[in-house]
Formats: sequence, C-alpha cells, structure tokens
Amino acid sequence: MCSVMNKESLSRSYSKVGSRTHYCGEVTADNEGQEVVVCGWVRRRRDHGGLVFIDLGDHTGVLQAVVIPDNGAAFVEAEKVRSEYVVALRGQVRRRPSGTVNQGISTGEVELDVKEAEILSESETPPFVVHEGEEHKEELRLKYRYLDLRRDDMQSVLRLRHAVYRSTRAYLDSRRFCEVETPILSKPTPEGARDFLVPSRMTQGQFYALPQSPQLFKQVLMCSGLDRYYQIVRCFRDEDFRANRQPEFTQIDIEMSFINESDVCDLIEGLMKEVWRETKGIELTLPFPRMSYDEAIERFGVDAPDLRFGLELRNLSGILAASEFMVFRSTLDTGGIIKGLKLEGGAGLSRSELDALTELCKGMGAKGLAWLKVENGELKSPIVKFVTDEQKEKLLETFSADDGDIIFIVADVPSVTNTTLSGLRLHLGRSRGLIDPDKLAFTWVDSFPLLEYDREQKRYVAVHHPFTAPDLPVGVSLSDVADPSTLKARAYDLVLNGQEIAGGSIRIHRQAMQSEVFRLLGISEEEARSKFSFLLDALSFGAPPHGGIAVGLDRLVMILTGKESIRDVIAFPKTSRGVDLMVESPSAADVEQLLELGLQIKAKPKVS
Ligand code: AMO
Ligand code: AMP
Repeated sequence: MCSVMNKESLSRSYSKVGSRTHYCGEVTADNEGQEVVVCGWVRRRRDHGGLVFIDLGDHTGVLQAVVIPDNGAAFVEAEKVRSEYVVALRGQVRRRPSGTVNQGISTGEVELDVKEAEILSESETPPFVVHEGEEHKEELRLKYRYLDLRRDDMQSVLRLRHAVYRSTRAYLDSRRFCEVETPILSKPTPEGARDFLVPSRMTQGQFYALPQSPQLFKQVLMCSGLDRYYQIVRCFRDEDFRANRQPEFTQIDIEMSFINESDVCDLIEGLMKEVWRETKGIELTLPFPRMSYDEAIERFGVDAPDLRFGLELRNLSGILAASEFMVFRSTLDTGGIIKGLKLEGGAGLSRSELDALTELCKGMGAKGLAWLKVENGELKSPIVKFVTDEQKEKLLETFSADDGDIIFIVADVPSVTNTTLSGLRLHLGRSRGLIDPDKLAFTWVDSFPLLEYDREQKRYVAVHHPFTAPDLPVGVSLSDVADPSTLKARAYDLVLNGQEIAGGSIRIHRQAMQSEVFRLLGISEEEARSKFSFLLDALSFGAPPHGGIAVGLDRLVMILTGKESIRDVIAFPKTSRGVDLMVESPSAADVEQLLELGLQIKAKPKVS
C-alpha cells in the first residue's frame, strides 16, 4: 500500500502541461522546432491584434511566448494572466519574424508558439513594478524582499556571492584547510563592539553571547592540533551602523599554525586572485603593496586609504612653525599638527563652494579650513597676510603647486587634522570625478600600534584584539618597554578601495605573555580568569605559534558587485535602525516566554 502511494506521489506533476524542460533564458535558436515546457513569472503581457504576447522570466532570462486565438483553452488562460503570475507553457520554439529579433537578450532570436498554458499561481498587484530599471524606495524593497530578490540584479548578486563561497572553499580545501563550525551560543568575544545577549532558560539569570567572531575558538583549535582551520561564519556585533556594517555579517575566518605574517598575506592574496578570476574573469597582479600604519596616516590621514587616486596629505607643521596666524601657532604650541592637500585645478572653486567645504570640515570636527589659491604665480587667501614669502615658496614647492591649483590646510590635534583631511580628500576625490570606478587598489596596512588609550575608560585598549602578539625584538620582554603606547602589533589589514576587507594578526601563544598583555590592558587576573580561563588553560597545555585573519565577505561582495550599500549584498539585511522589515524583528516577547526565562521588562523611562 505504502509503496503504491509513493510511486503515485513521485510521478505527480506540478503542472498539467508537463514538467519544465528548459529555463526561460536558455531557449535559443538551437532549439528551433523543438517542443519545450517553460515555467516562470509573467514579466509582461501584451495583447496585439488578437494575439497575446507573454514575456515569461526566471533567473536565467526572459522568453517571449505568443498565443493565438485559435488555440482555444490556452488563449483563454493566457488572457487571464497578469504580471508576476506563475505560469507553465508548452509550445514549439520558432524563429521570430524578421525585424522583430532582439539582439539584447539571449532568447532574442526565437519565440514560443504556445500550445498549452496553465496558471500555477496568481499574484496580487505588486507594491512596486518588479522588473523595471528604476530604483524603488529601500523600505519597500526590504519589506517585500521576496519581490526585490526576484529582480535580475539581486539574483546576480546572490549568485555571485555563492560563487565566492564556492571558490573560497575550493581554494582553502586544496590547501589542507579544514572547515569547523564553532558555537553561536557562546561567551563574549572582545572585538570592540557590544554583545548580543541570549537569556538562558535552564539557568535563569545567565546569558549566552552571540560571537562577535570565532576568535577564541579558532585559537583553541590550533591548540588542538587542527593546523589549518577555516569557516564561512556569521558574526554578531551590536554596534552603530554605517554603509558597510551590519549587526550580523559574514567572515571568511582563517587560522593557521607554525606560520608568520607573510604566510597569511600570501594565502589571502592567492584567495583574492582566485575569487576575482572565478567571479569576474579579472587577473589581479600580486603581490599587493604594503604600507605601515604610520605611513598610511601620514599620507592619507586614515588607516584604510583609498589608493585609487592621489590628493596625498603633506605635513606642514615644519613650514608653518613660525606662523603669525594665531590658529596655526596655538595648534602647534599645544601639541597639534598642520597638514594640507593640493587640488589641481581647484582655484576655480567659488566662495560658496569653499564655504560648503569649510562646513563639511567643521562637521568632521575641525575648527575651520584654510585655503590658498595659486593665481598668476601668487598665493591668494584670506590668511595670506600671515604667510611669509619664504613660507609661500615652501608651500608651492611642497605641493608642486601651479597656477589654477588650490591648497587646503587644517590645523588641529592630530586625530582631528587627519580625520578631517582624509574626509575632505575622499569628498574631493568623489565629487571631482578623480576615482576610476573600475580600478582595484589593494594594499596591506601593517605595524599598527598594539594599544590605544581610551579616555573614557582611562586605560589602554587593544587596537586589534587582546590576543594579538606585540612586535618585540628577540630577547626583549614587555616589561622592558617603558612607554606601552610605542608598542607595535603583529597585525595586518587588507584594504581595498578605501575599505578594510580583512584583518588579522599573529597571536600570543605563551600563557605568560597573554597574562602580561591582559595586565597592560588593565584586565585583572580575576577578570581574565572569569572571561578567558579556557584560553589561558589551552595556552598552558602546548600551544603552537599561530595566527590568522578574517575577511569581511559582505564587504568583498559589495566591491565585486559595485554596490554602495552592504544591504544590497545580503539576502535578508537589517535597516540602519537594526530592523528586519520583512519579518518585523526585533519584536516583543510573550509574557509566558519572559516568565520562563525569569525576565521582566521594566517600562522604558520617560524622556522628559
Ligand atoms: P575584525 O574585527 O577586523 O577582525 O573583522 C574582520 C573583518 O570583518 C569585517 N567586519 C564587518 N563587516 C560587516 N559588518 C560589520 N559590522 C563588520 N565588522 C567587521 C571587516 C573586517 O576587516 N577575529 C578577528 C580576525 C582575526 O584576528 O583573525 C576579527 O574579527 O571587513
Ligand atoms: P578666522 O580667523 O577664524 O576667520 O579664520 C580664517 C580662516 O582660517 C578661515 O578660512 C577659517 O576657516 C580658517 N581656519 C580657522 N581655524 C582653522 C584651523 N584650525 N585649521 C585650518 N584653518 C582654520
């Protein structure tokens, strides 16, 4: 009895016209004369002189189908279809009449002479026209994500993303890496963001944390002798949103034993080459250039510089040391710096354009923006009376400035000067069309500081994370270093077109050194034990020298697809307020659920 039922259910078809024989976009002149069955979504129905034309589409493309009135039942069915109906069509492939060929699409030489048609599923009128080129409001796209993802553009993003997974796995598998899944219900990982907490029902009052990264697990796996680990893994960080950040995002997470920095960099360069070749047919040139963190800050004001264009910053503190301009003098006297950049041909900027740039800089924290135009060999500027002839000459020489150029200058504490000028540089690069969108500018940035001082917490915090090895000469121990702020880390970031797409480091593999770094970071022995005792223990039972890296997969796919927003490369992303508009999360929990968890929601304090 059972086997008979199974047999029947196996041979049951989803359509009376038969099962699909071809994808819509794959029917070509090679199929001329053949009978085919295609299934898909109606992109358009047109009635023309008694004929019904249906553009039927799926993820491979669109096929034009024609139904004639003589074809009674099929014609009646075809007249009922509307956009986004799901339809199955059986028919014969024939060449289109001359003059109606569409060279722009794969199926443009043929059409389907429909014999049978069946509506498999109807559709309400969609809230936006799915297959038109225009961009719809993002809120609408995210709420009806299934319709948005039906568009060719989004389909190709998802498929390219899949191709990245595939080539990453193939590349790493062939290099003896082993993929291991690590827990999602876990403990806090210090990667610098807030944790998402998950309350435990079994142990009320206790919480899991979602991993900000699998950092500690991958190090433990090295202690287990796994040798080479990877995982395409979801990470969770409760941090402020930006165009290239999501609260949950994907890393290609990697860890290796008995290696140094160049082993990791070589591996990632090879991976990038493979990914670009496989997904875009582009051959990258290796090795990627390298620069130290100090050089990146000096030349570009930022640790993730966009090297697709020039406009490099110059340090002018020396030239303007004896300046009469009070702002410059007081900046230098109080430990600040003066830096600037030259915009070729920028002397034509109007007063209102310069005011707008000044406002932009003030928005980034600067007190102002000084500018000097080069006109007829002379410098023209509201502050020119404060600049001596010798200083003028040195400024022109430093920037190789010519007639028609403009020099912008910012004086402030180093962080503000650098942030403002790097922001101005990027703004000018974009607004003046200096960035070639087809260019790929990779660079490694290394020799980061190990620590930075956090004024709020009044202690040092790790620039990368607390498990990163300090860059110490052989024989020197941490306690020999008088000023911890001068310590460098064995850390490296991979930057592409001004975005950090990967970051990693060589790790501390000796327990004593790890404890010393915790001490430097003001983490007490008690706190270290309560948070990381498993790691400290693992390091004490034979830890190999190891290191690794994590590639931000979403950012990589953003650049591969030329998307401006990370939301466009994630199937079901969150808005900038952390909301999933389709499933409507986050949402309130049932009172019973809260009771089970031993939780009670306090009324939100009223903002007076
Ligand atoms: P890091 O914190 O530098 O290192 O993260 C690695 C890479 O992940 C990407 N990334 C993000 N992408 C989208 N949204 C976010 N909120 C987000 N945060 C980070 C970036 C970044 O370069 N455990 C270490 C790696 C290691 O040391 O091996 C880590 O997570 O592209
Ligand atoms: P002020 O004397 O304040 O009118 O400033 C004269 C010019 O110097 C204006 O163009 C200001 O925008 C600019 N300026 C003021 N403060 C700074 C600063 N910290 N760095 C660079 N330029 C500044």
